[in-house]
Amino acid sequence: MSQPVIQHLLTRRSVSANALSEPGPDSAQLDQILTAAARVPDHKKLVPWRFIVFRGGAREAFGRELAEICRKEQPEPSAFRLETESKRFMRAPLVIAVISRVAKPSPAPEWEQVLSAGAACQNLVVAASALGYGVNWVTEWCAYSEGVNRALGLAENERVAGFIYVGTAKERPEERPRPALDEVVSVWQG
Ligand SMILES: Cc1cc2nc3c(=O)[nH]c(=O)nc-3n(C[C@H](O)[C@H](O)[C@H](O)COP(=O)(O)O)c2cc1C
Repeated sequence: MSQPVIQHLLTRRSVSANALSEPGPDSAQLDQILTAAARVPDHKKLVPWRFIVFRGGAREAFGRELAEICRKEQPEPSAFRLETESKRFMRAPLVIAVISRVAKPSPAPEWEQVLSAGAACQNLVVAASALGYGVNWVTEWCAYSEGVNRALGLAENERVAGFIYVGTAKERPEERPRPALDEVVSVWQG
């Protein structure tokens, strides 16, 4: 039986993309993960996000595009850098790009639509890790590249909220310091 939700939320840890390997989720699990990601608060039902899935050979093909974009956008990238880019999406068996898409003009503020995309990312992280996978939500340079946006086919109102790497953790991550609650919580006293 899966652990209770609260226990998962209190213990979940990201696993670096470099520490992920096969196997990844099967198609039924992927459907569950995406369904959970699409079940987030969304003011005015605008669905201000979408998902692009990279599996199998698509990761290598997109890596070739990344290397080409890197060659054009970065000042004199080394051969090692280009090789790294070509393998970037190969770090995990599954990579999901979460795309924030802001409807304009819209009945809900842009800020709220962006927050909803963040919630979709986190639901994706929580769902995939609840299924026992290692997960890493990263942006890296690729989330801020016009060339990558073009390669992903993003419209003018869209941007990358995250690339979420999902696979089997090669090692258990160490605990990471968390803020003491009294540093981040105050009680309103008027
Ligand atoms: C929007 C966003 C972008 C992030 N981008 C990166 C990144 O590019 N590289 C990285 O090492 N961590 C990045 N992180 C941090 C990791 O996702 C993760 O939060 C961190 O490793 C802590 O892990 P935890 O989930 O166990 O707290 C990003 C987090 C967020 C919310």
